[in-house]
Amino acid sequence: MKKLYSSQRTRWLYIISIIFLCLMTIGLWRSSQLLEKPKIDEEQKPIAITLSSGAIEPIPLVRKLDERKVDLGRNLFNEPKLSKDNTISCASCHHLDAGGADPKRFSLGINDAVGVVNTPTVFNSEFNFKMHWSGVVTTLEEQIDKPVYSERVMASSWPEIVSKLQKLPEYTSVFAKIYPDGLNSDNIKNAIATYERSLYTPNARFDRFLRGEQNALTEEEKEGYRRFKAYGCVSCHQGINIGANLFQNFGLFGNYFEDRGNITKADLGRFNVTGNEEDRYKFRVSSLRNIEKTPPYFHDGTAETLEEAVMLMGKYQLGRQLSDQDIELIVKFLKTLTGEYQGKPL
Ligand code: HEC
Ligand code: HEC
Repeated sequence: MKKLYSSQRTRWLYIISIIFLCLMTIGLWRSSQLLEKPKIDEEQKPIAITLSSGAIEPIPLVRKLDERKVDLGRNLFNEPKLSKDNTISCASCHHLDAGGADPKRFSLGINDAVGVVNTPTVFNSEFNFKMHWSGVVTTLEEQIDKPVYSERVMASSWPEIVSKLQKLPEYTSVFAKIYPDGLNSDNIKNAIATYERSLYTPNARFDRFLRGEQNALTEEEKEGYRRFKAYGCVSCHQGINIGANLFQNFGLFGNYFEDRGNITKADLGRFNVTGNEEDRYKFRVSSLRNIEKTPPYFHDGTAETLEEAVMLMGKYQLGRQLSDQDIELIVKFLKTLTGEYQGKPL
């Protein structure tokens, strides 16, 4: 002992290195905690991703949901009484047989009011980090207030809706069975959101590939995926929804909006939510799941085909002129992102 502590200096060095080691251990422990991703599904088993994709995750095969709420939510989703004049339901714009979106550039709401942005899909919306092109709301429940109150969409209110539905025993009896406090706006929202959570589309060929089925993709589709990664599409389109987990400027290279012309308020994107100058023209990166099923593309619905959308992404988001072959291969890859709803391809 005497030898070890023979000089004051060695003693201090010894103490300092112990403190340093402790700090390192705490740091490592904390970063391992941060890396642990929140589980989307309690039932989900750990998924072995065989490829070095890392950034893209498959959709869980099964979600456990209360089927009574799903059924009630489905009826409410298709219920025109949610709108002021009983003409518009959620399904008027979100067509499940058109990828959960609207084939029109802009949907028509109450009194044929024309929308200001293209209608996105309701499929897999639970996996979006925020809702709407501008990310103005976070949860599915909160989102429902938007169409209900919007003058262009349903022009209604919860008191109006609740009083209309209260006259219908087919609703009041079902609500009473499922919810202790019966029919009210919170429970309507809960039922619709639960139905929306049932609109997930697992088992896309690409997900099967991620799960290790090498033959789920053709060589051309694999090459398309390789280019999607190599050119940097994956730096924005990533995560479980292959997008919809971050905001980015539309027009990082060149000015998309000036080139297109007629700039509208909706084009200001996230700026409309925050008022921050840096959010002007910023949008939620779109999910690319089932993308072949939801033309036209972009918030302004200007790109009619997937080829055009990919070409414009290359130009304005990557500053790269993609060759015809690049576009063809990437589109082939994108078409492998189409999943199944209730066991059938979308
Ligand atoms: C008139 C057409 C129309 C109707 C009716 C409508 N929506 Fe939408 N929906 C849209 C549009 C347009 C957006 C995008 C709005 C935006 O980004 O500003 C949207 C966005 C959404 C989103 C977010 C999707 C995403 O990717 O961010 C969900 C979820 C949704 N709607 C569900 C519903 C529900 C539930 C109802 C019924 C209560 C409904 N919608 C009624 C047109 C409609
Ligand atoms: C810097 C981020 C970024 C990069 C890189 C990027 N994107 Fe996008 N992508 C976005 C944003 C943001 C949107 C939404 C734009 C809008 O409509 O306002 C989008 C939209 C899309 C859409 C239309 C989605 C829809 O539902 O309308 C497609 C298709 C697409 N991207 C494919 C690609 C491909 C393929 C690449 C690579 C060639 C790519 N993106 C690179 C950010 C990016």
